[in-house]
Amino acid sequence: MSDDTQAARIQQAAERLRNSRKPVVLTGAGVSKESGVPTFRDAVDGLWAQYDPSQLATPTAFMNNPKLVWDWYEYRRSMISVARPNLGHRALADLEQRFPHLPLITQNVDDLHEQAGSTNVIHLHGNIAQSKCFFNCQGDPTLIDVSTLTWDKENGPPACPHCGRWVRPNVVWFGEILPADQLQAATIASRQADIMLVVGTSGLVTPAASLPGIARSAGAFIIEINPDYSAITRIADIKLDGPSGEVMPHLLAALDS
Ligand code: APR
Repeated sequence: MSDDTQAARIQQAAERLRNSRKPVVLTGAGVSKESGVPTFRDAVDGLWAQYDPSQLATPTAFMNNPKLVWDWYEYRRSMISVARPNLGHRALADLEQRFPHLPLITQNVDDLHEQAGSTNVIHLHGNIAQSKCFFNCQGDPTLIDVSTLTWDKENGPPACPHCGRWVRPNVVWFGEILPADQLQAATIASRQADIMLVVGTSGLVTPAASLPGIARSAGAFIIEINPDYSAITRIADIKLDGPSGEVMPHLLAALDS
């Protein structure tokens, strides 16, 4: 595809956005890749190319080997804690200046959208910086501030100070239900939107992956930003090819021109 064609598509997308009354954004791991946070499904450097999700990202995996799972999340936490927002996150935060309260639905468990300045972030898959009781013994979620606990890290996760059972990361694993309030907010925002920007997701994990279809069925125009094809591409009205850290600033510039 030539640059001219891409430039024309950016203009079309900007025109649509300019006339939008209710846009919504859905992001995935791709938006944080340029911040040094690996995606899951990129063939070479995606996490699931190197690690087996069934051993690391299910409740059963945790019950079978809490130390392995806890240590893997500690490794990811340390990687994410030094990451900073990239130009893609910043452009999406700038978009909120134009559309106050812009709902930004993310599957990401980092807080790079918030660091960039987005204020209405709907986290479908939790927050990796937080921990909770595996059994949510005080209600869902029973968040635990592990920085206040001391424990022998050689033994894996700390014990819940309320019930003595394991503490785990506050993220959604395969086979688990998404936080009801976040999923409800995301579904409502998708139904009400007249445009959905879908940025950096493979669109393979439901229910997040079904949101673009919900938005489209309700009449929304779908603009996808992704360097590759995804499961969303076939329903996208405009596809902008490239990394979000490059494409999003171009789109914002076109919007302001
Ligand atoms: N800019 C935009 N998109 C990018 C970039 C980039 N710089 N680099 C890669 N991508 C795209 C890839 O082409 C791919 O379509 O980002 C997408 C990443 O896909 P996944 O790794 O599957 O990430 P995501 O869609 O967020 O995964 C959904 O799967 O394992 C679970 O819970 C995990 O939230 C995650 C969910």
